[in-house]
Amino acid sequence: MKIFLTGASGLAGSNFALAANRRGHEVIGVVGQGPDRVPGASRILRLDLRSEEVVTRNVLDLFPDAIVNAAAISENHLCEQDPESARLLNAVLPGLLGRLANHLSARYLHLSTEQVFDGRAAPYLPGAKPSPLSLYGRLKAEGETAARGTAAAFTTVIRLPLLTGNSLTSRRSFHERLFAQWAEGKTVTAFTDEIRQPCSAENAAAALIELCERSDFLGTVHWAGAEPLSRHAMAAAVARHFKLPEDWVRPGTRADHAGAPRPPDLSLVTSPLAGRLKTEPESFAQQLEKMIVPRPFQEWYHQLPA
Ligand SMILES: NC(=O)c1ccc[n+]([C@@H]2O[C@H](COP(=O)([O-])OP(=O)(O)OC[C@H]3O[C@@H](n4cnc5c(N)ncnc54)[C@H](OP(=O)(O)O)[C@@H]3O)[C@@H](O)[C@H]2O)c1
Repeated sequence: MKIFLTGASGLAGSNFALAANRRGHEVIGVVGQGPDRVPGASRILRLDLRSEEVVTRNVLDLFPDAIVNAAAISENHLCEQDPESARLLNAVLPGLLGRLANHLSARYLHLSTEQVFDGRAAPYLPGAKPSPLSLYGRLKAEGETAARGTAAAFTTVIRLPLLTGNSLTSRRSFHERLFAQWAEGKTVTAFTDEIRQPCSAENAAAALIELCERSDFLGTVHWAGAEPLSRHAMAAAVARHFKLPEDWVRPGTRADHAGAPRPPDLSLVTSPLAGRLKTEPESFAQQLEKMIVPRPFQEWYHQLPA
């Protein structure tokens, strides 16, 4: 399959490029500011996906068999800094790619997030009504509606949980962010009352490429790890795994948080997908095994006293 992959330089997209390449697909990866080379992608296009004209011209020129949309402004504070770009990327682009997929009869996968929920009624079924608390969650919910509304016969919207694993920039994933803080000498406060169901970007990519090759899971589906955990449990497990002092992770609660309200529990019901794909949801222990010491912090890490 020829796959037009947006967000190829991101955490989810770069892992997807590798998984798709391993399955023998041709990946044309779109980056914004990111690197000129993405492992797994046979070609890189540097495009501003906020432009309808740019996106339309490139997709029509390439005539892909599948479109995978892993581009986004993926953090709430960045959405708040530039709401117009966030609207174009997170809410408008999914509909545009859907219309193009419909026009080309191409398979369309659009990546979304558990942040479309408010966290008060977990675990969430794929059919649960979105109730976002943040601008990011609101725009992603709009993007889902736009994606589903344009190419229903070809589209799967897949909601993902907090992603672990290794990113191209070494600064995107859960443990990479912990390392960035620890290397600056900071203790991390992690909430004991904030539940997520993490999965590695590599495992999500394996599920995504299976979905891409099939046409029997249309509409909205969920994918996540095998176990809901508090952020504190996750951070403490990362510290233990890398043999770092456990007191570098301090327990806190959401009540300590000054910013926008945070969803307490974003656990997802992963059926009907889980059990029907060859890819299986991973435990957190399996995710830990895949985490490498992020490149920028390797020297710092290896100089730590044993
Ligand atoms: N990370 C998570 O924990 C998580 C959890 C649940 C769901 N998701 C969803 O998964 C998807 C991917 O997230 P991610 O974490 O992989 O995101 P990410 O690492 O922040 O990557 C975002 C991607 O979007 C691209 N992009 C942003 N603005 C662009 C523009 N104007 N033009 C071209 N490309 C642009 C970036 O390109 P450059 O970097 O090259 O500029 C990058 O490749 C999103 O839909 C997100 O909502 C992520």
